[in-house]
Amino acid sequence: MHAITIPEPGGPEALVWDEVPDPVPGEGEVLVDVVASAVNRADLLQRQGHYDPPPGASRYPGLECSGRIAALGPGVSGWTVGDQVCALLAGGGYAEKVAVPAGQLLPVPENVDLRQAAALPEVTCTVWSNVFMVAHLRPGETFLVHGGSSGIGTMAIQLAKAVGAKVAVTAGTKEKLDYCSELGADILINYREQDFVEEIKRATDGAGADVILDNMGAKYLDRNVRALAVSGRLAIIGMQGGVKGELNIGALMSKRAAITATSLRARPLDEKAAVVAAVREHVWPLLADGNVRPVVDREMPMSDAAAAHRVVEESGHIGKVLLVTP
Ligand SMILES: NC(=O)c1ccc[n+]([C@@H]2O[C@H](COP(=O)([O-])OP(=O)(O)OC[C@H]3O[C@@H](n4cnc5c(N)ncnc54)[C@H](OP(=O)(O)O)[C@@H]3O)[C@@H](O)[C@H]2O)c1
Repeated sequence: MHAITIPEPGGPEALVWDEVPDPVPGEGEVLVDVVASAVNRADLLQRQGHYDPPPGASRYPGLECSGRIAALGPGVSGWTVGDQVCALLAGGGYAEKVAVPAGQLLPVPENVDLRQAAALPEVTCTVWSNVFMVAHLRPGETFLVHGGSSGIGTMAIQLAKAVGAKVAVTAGTKEKLDYCSELGADILINYREQDFVEEIKRATDGAGADVILDNMGAKYLDRNVRALAVSGRLAIIGMQGGVKGELNIGALMSKRAAITATSLRARPLDEKAAVVAAVREHVWPLLADGNVRPVVDREMPMSDAAAAHRVVEESGHIGKVLLVTP
């Protein structure tokens, strides 16, 4: 088969479409003929040599895919060769075939095209596990997501609206904020021109956000704590603004607030399977009835993953950039 390899870490040109051995599904795994994968921000870090795959994972990049089941490994039940699926991966999605633990497979939802289903696993699992399983966003609460037009942001807006939350977003351009508004966002904040703490307070009569989903880490830590409501929950999933920040513990205590931080990729298989099962139970019906949809900016050839990485690196996209196999 062909896969994107990274012979030497570096810029987008480090991604090489190469002939490599086919993966063999092990115990409890399924072999998938990949139709599409999608670019995640983490893939850029892996390409640069800053984010190695966890032990046992494929060396090739790609944290999700869609395709058809080509073979079942030993001990797999409940799936059939030919099934159309999408999957959460620890790596290996930028390839024509990938071996996937069966617990990380999802059927392609009704109403969703097979290729576009590649846009779903990483964002649905990350948003559902953080915003709902950990931060317990409830109807009527105010939810702030930073980077509202990102792959994560576009799914977070839709899921939070689907449960009846009031949604605030930050984004860097008017065009992106307009798109977030079309997806249902109620409070639009341009992070280049406005102070999100002031704006969220203004929009909530001084109360603040009950739940914040944060991609920035250190740079926003202090401001996120100030933007939280009493009993607020800050869920950190990204470090685009650095890894080490200073925390005002007094401010956190006085709000009786909580901060969590999680990474999906390195979690044990049983935890990933539990997240995937919860997503299938709670998110898949919303996709099937059209209340929630994958947001795809564009589809590009997987063999030219370098061009797709340039788009994401320059933030030239809204939602997800797909990589389609030949
Ligand atoms: N922990 C996990 O398990 C996990 C899983 C998946 C993703 N993530 C993280 O989630 C984040 C989003 O991932 P993605 O793949 O969806 O990325 P993406 O589509 O590339 O989006 C990155 C976003 O960052 C926004 N941004 C840049 N500077 C900002 C600032 N100063 N304030 C607010 N937003 C800013 C961009 O907004 P503009 O385009 O408007 O500038 C863009 O929306 C990344 O940090 C990623 O690492 C974490």
